Amino acid sequence: MGVRLALMVGGGIALLAGLDAALLLLGVAAPVTAERLASVHGMLMVLGFIGTVIALERAVALGRWWGFASPALMGLGGIALISPVPLPVAGALLMAATGLQAVIFIPLWRRRRDAAVLVQSLGAVSAFGATILFTGGVAMASFLPWLVGYVVLLISGERMELARLGRSDDRAEKAVLAGGVALLAAIVLLLLFPRWGAPVLGAALLAMVFALVNADVARTMLRSTGLPRFSAACLMAGYVWLTVAGGILVLIPHPFDGGAYDALVHSVMLGFTMSMIFAHAAVILPAVLRRPLPYHPVMYVPAALLHVALAVRVVGGDLRGAHLVWQIGGVGNVIAVLAFVITAVATGMTASLAARRRRTRANSALHAGASTARGVIPGAE
Ligand code: HEM
Repeated sequence: MGVRLALMVGGGIALLAGLDAALLLLGVAAPVTAERLASVHGMLMVLGFIGTVIALERAVALGRWWGFASPALMGLGGIALISPVPLPVAGALLMAATGLQAVIFIPLWRRRRDAAVLVQSLGAVSAFGATILFTGGVAMASFLPWLVGYVVLLISGERMELARLGRSDDRAEKAVLAGGVALLAAIVLLLLFPRWGAPVLGAALLAMVFALVNADVARTMLRSTGLPRFSAACLMAGYVWLTVAGGILVLIPHPFDGGAYDALVHSVMLGFTMSMIFAHAAVILPAVLRRPLPYHPVMYVPAALLHVALAVRVVGGDLRGAHLVWQIGGVGNVIAVLAFVITAVATGMTASLAARRRRTRANSALHAGASTARGVIPGAE
């Protein structure tokens, strides 16, 4: 197993443990019922899983050995969260991982001074802030905005880099950077003034979505076919969910309580973040893991299930208060994430096997050709 794949193991464990914890939080049957699992679901998912994937991808982009310490520490921190070690130890590991992740952006910025790197570095700072608050024992609802800042800013910055493949628009990129600065400022403000900070954060999030949609080529990609169209559909759905999150923060008086909290968290984490991961998996994972992951139309099935189940959960469960509907939507989300992972592993393995078979056939043809050229009858050596 390659080093990069080994580093992904920590992220994979965090994802499976986080999904198990999600079932516990929904109050339905779960394979593992360890006591601490449910209380660390959020950190497992955001830093243990998504943090490891993002840190690995950035370490590959940096291309220096020390950069890989960040995904290694992130994975270890995720495993520590589900082990019996005290939570502050897991927090310290995650703090080291996110601190290092922020440092990685210094050489990346020196290499390419552009808005996309700055937006990502703001996200890395937000993650570092979240781990400091977590290690200090602050309640999750109070530092959730820092985790939101991490995923939104980092993924937006990466999206800007990828969107540039289609076109480059300096003004649109500067608008995303301005939105990113406003978002981080609003996150700090909310920590200092929890009473009226939420609508400001919501307004900053809405401004960010507006700037992102404007800078992105996703709208035009919707008219293409195959992977570009699939990615564009996931991207646009992600932007819709980010708008829902902004709307909840602006319009609902206590967005960090009850059903509004569940709707807010998962509009960002499932509707936006997971959808973005689905959109880019076939491009980013092969570059990071050096394994093929070809697009297959069956990927639409988990993607559609993710969004339909989330809509059921948010509208029927969180807003209308129907507990069973909320549980059904939540279980649908777990199935969607697992189904995407299974689809990716299956298509990746099929492509690897096909490539190996092609190489073997080419080698034997080459060998047979060389033998014939030397006047040897193939197979009679
Ligand atoms: C796949 C299906 C998922 C289900 C069924 C699920 C379920 C839940 C539930 C029931 C809660 C408690 C909500 C509340 O207290 O009102 C929760 C909280 C949370 N979830 Fe999820 N979740 C899922 C996926 C995710 C993902 C993918 C992420 C991150 C990428 C995530 C991040 C969080 C966070 C940050 C919290 C707040 C934790 C806290 O307050 O302690 N969830 N989740």
